[in-house]
Amino acid sequence: MKIQEAQQFYRKQFDLYGKHIDYPELDEGLAADIVEQMGRPFTSVLELGAGKGNLARCLAGRGKSVTTVELVPELVEYAEQFQSPDVTSICGSFYDIELPRQFDAVLYMDGFGVGTDAEQLQLLRRIHDWLCDDGAALIDIYEPTYWKQTSGRTMTLPGDVSRVYGYDDSRNRMTDTWWPTDRPDEKMTQSLACYSPEDIHEMCKQARLQIIAYFPGGAMDYEAWSYHEVASLAQCISYRIKVVKMR
Ligand SMILES: C[S@@+](CC[C@H](N)C(=O)[O-])C[C@H]1O[C@@H](n2cnc3c(N)ncnc32)[C@H](O)[C@@H]1O
Repeated sequence: MKIQEAQQFYRKQFDLYGKHIDYPELDEGLAADIVEQMGRPFTSVLELGAGKGNLARCLAGRGKSVTTVELVPELVEYAEQFQSPDVTSICGSFYDIELPRQFDAVLYMDGFGVGTDAEQLQLLRRIHDWLCDDGAALIDIYEPTYWKQTSGRTMTLPGDVSRVYGYDDSRNRMTDTWWPTDRPDEKMTQSLACYSPEDIHEMCKQARLQIIAYFPGGAMDYEAWSYHEVASLAQCISYRIKVVKMR
């Protein structure tokens, strides 16, 4: 997606749905996972694509000093309402924002893959430069097998919003289309690149980043309409990579 398309999609998604719905227990759980997956004490955090800022607030509550970068001004304004002094919110694009410092941890939760392969590589190179020499980044990667199988699934969300998933085989991108249920002519779609563990390993290498851990996430069983917290690496919705600078 081009920057303008991403901005339009995430603004509209926030307007239709995100403004009204929060799951604070999920963000607390995510913050606990991050502390565990980092595996060593850390203080400064850069969070990319921070959305409504919920994770940043939870991390600040755990004594971290968090800088967030988020593209959509409305999301940054929302986050600022609840802000703690330990969170610095920056509105801008992670492709060109200037951050003249380094961080112990760089996080990109749920959203890597919004651009082209070349842009993703550029972002990984920037993550390399934002990391302290002994820092680590945690990045969520969409898994291709799950998304191929999920293509065609439709659902209705609270707030009378409908959603359908798709998969573009030629570009290896999942697609996620939203619309107000009573206004199907107002459809809008985001697409995110999916990478196998091997593909992302190769891309990280080009950015001089070494993957030192893979953490598989959950998967939805649509037949039983139940969510499994942890699936296999080849069947999860997304998996998290932990990367460090190559020595
Ligand atoms: C799928 S949402 C995830 C939000 C949040 N991380 C979460 O897990 O709830 C992706 C976020 O990345 C932001 N984003 C997309 N492109 C961006 C860019 N170039 N620079 C900064 N943020 C961007 C979007 O506006 C959106 O808020």
